[in-house]
Formats: sequence, structure tokens, C-alpha cells
Amino acid sequence: MQALAAMYDPYSIARLAEHTIPETARCLVLGVGASRIAAHLADRAPYGEVVATDTDHTHTVRHPRVRQLTHDIATDPLPQGPWDVIHARLLLGHLPQRDTLLATLADVLQHNGLLVVEELAGTWPFSVLDAPDLHEADRLYATYGRAFGAVLAAQGVDLTWSRRVHAHMRNLGLDVDTQVHAATWTGNSPGTQLPWASAGLLRDQLTAHGMARADITAFRDLLRRHDLRVLGNAAVSTIGLRTH
Ligand SMILES: C[S@@+](CC[C@H](N)C(=O)[O-])C[C@H]1O[C@@H](n2cnc3c(N)ncnc32)[C@H](O)[C@@H]1O
Repeated sequence: MQALAAMYDPYSIARLAEHTIPETARCLVLGVGASRIAAHLADRAPYGEVVATDTDHTHTVRHPRVRQLTHDIATDPLPQGPWDVIHARLLLGHLPQRDTLLATLADVLQHNGLLVVEELAGTWPFSVLDAPDLHEADRLYATYGRAFGAVLAAQGVDLTWSRRVHAHMRNLGLDVDTQVHAATWTGNSPGTQLPWASAGLLRDQLTAHGMARADITAFRDLLRRHDLRVLGNAAVSTIGLRTH
């Protein structure tokens, strides 16, 4: 959670900076995790209201003007709209109801309201920028990417959804802009700690989807090296504006 926040908060905040947010804005941050997005919106809208939802608030960053709501987006009714800003990062892509939920969120947007949906696109085959053995590092990253993608797909994650959000939002009548960001990370930094942790937690599933145990160990060892440089997974940020 902390690694996700460290990797993607600066970009999400830069995307929000492209838009005017009224000082009285009502903002809804869904599946907030450890991100600072809700706290950031509370500072941008000092006379507004910010609600941060999650099924589990263990990691939620406290802010005096952010109301934490324990809420399951898949089953619970949305808190009463309309909303000037709705932000959902790395949440909807994991949920089978993602398309219906997107339509529901578009419906509760205020006029000139923003619907921000950010998901990751895997960049594994071309992640490695520098490593002691470039060929071997490329091989390990690509092997992990194939197996990890298969694990996610088996869990119902649609890996194309980060791109599909754009067309869905257009069909919902929003003015839509999509941008992509990927940053450079060294070994043993947030961008490499995340796959290190995932590869450890998912060892059995990765093996079941074709990654040899020796490769998982070698991949994790690589991710701790200070002379490794990689591109983190691309954050695909789609913002829909309700203009009518
Ligand atoms: C991958 S994390 C992303 C956290 C944060 N949005 C970020 O980008 O750093 C997904 C978050 O959504 C929460 N979550 C998962 N399923 C949820 C649901 N059905 N309703 C609300 N939150 C959910 C998890 O507890 C977790 O905090």
C-alpha cells in the first residue's frame, strides 16, 4: 500500500492540478488505501467535503477534514451525491462490476465534475533500463510479467481495462482525456519493492502459471540490487469531465 502511494501519488496529484477544483467541492475518494489523494483534495477544497472510502481503513492517512467511510463499492450504496470530484485508483479494474460501477459514478457527477480513474498497464517486457546483465534481467522481467498477468487474469482482472476506461467514459457522455506516466526506479525502492513483495506472496500461483521457482528467486534478488534501473508500471490516468 505504502509503495503504491509513493509510486503514484505525485502523478495523480499532478493530474488533479490540471483542473480547477472549487473551494467548496464535494470529493469522493474510493478505495483510498494509503494514498494521500483524499488529504490533497481536502487542502484544495478548504470549504468543501471529502469522503474517503475503503473496506479496510488500516492504512488510511488521517486528515482532520477527511471523513473515513467503511464502504464496499461492489455492494454498498454510494454516499449521497452529486460530487465535484470522484477519484478511484487501482480499484475498479479488480472488480467484475467495473463497467456498471463506472456508469453509476458518472451519474452522480456534478456539472463540471471530474471522474478520475487510474489503473496500471504492465510494462514488464520493456521495463529494464539498466542492470548488470541486461539480457537476463529482460528475461526475468518478461517471465514475471507473463506469469503475473496470468495470475491477475485468473482472478478476473481485465488487463486491458486501463485503456478501455476512455471509451466507456465517452459513451457515458463525458469529455475524456487519458495520459500515461511511468517513472524510473532503482532496485530496493518503492517501484521495485512492489513486484518483490508480489512475487514473494504469489510464489505458488506464479509457479502454477509457468514461472520456475529459481526464476522467482533470481527475479527477487535482482529487484534488491542498487545497480538496477527499471521503468515502473505505467499509470494510465483517465479524467472524464461532465460538461452537460
Ligand atoms: C490496490 S489498492 C489501491 C489503494 C489506493 N487507491 C492507491 O492507489 O494507492 C486497492 C484498495 O481498494 C480497497 N478495496 C478493495 N476492494 C474494495 C471494495 N470492494 N470497495 C472499497 N474498497 C475496496 C482495498 O482495501 C485497497 O485499499
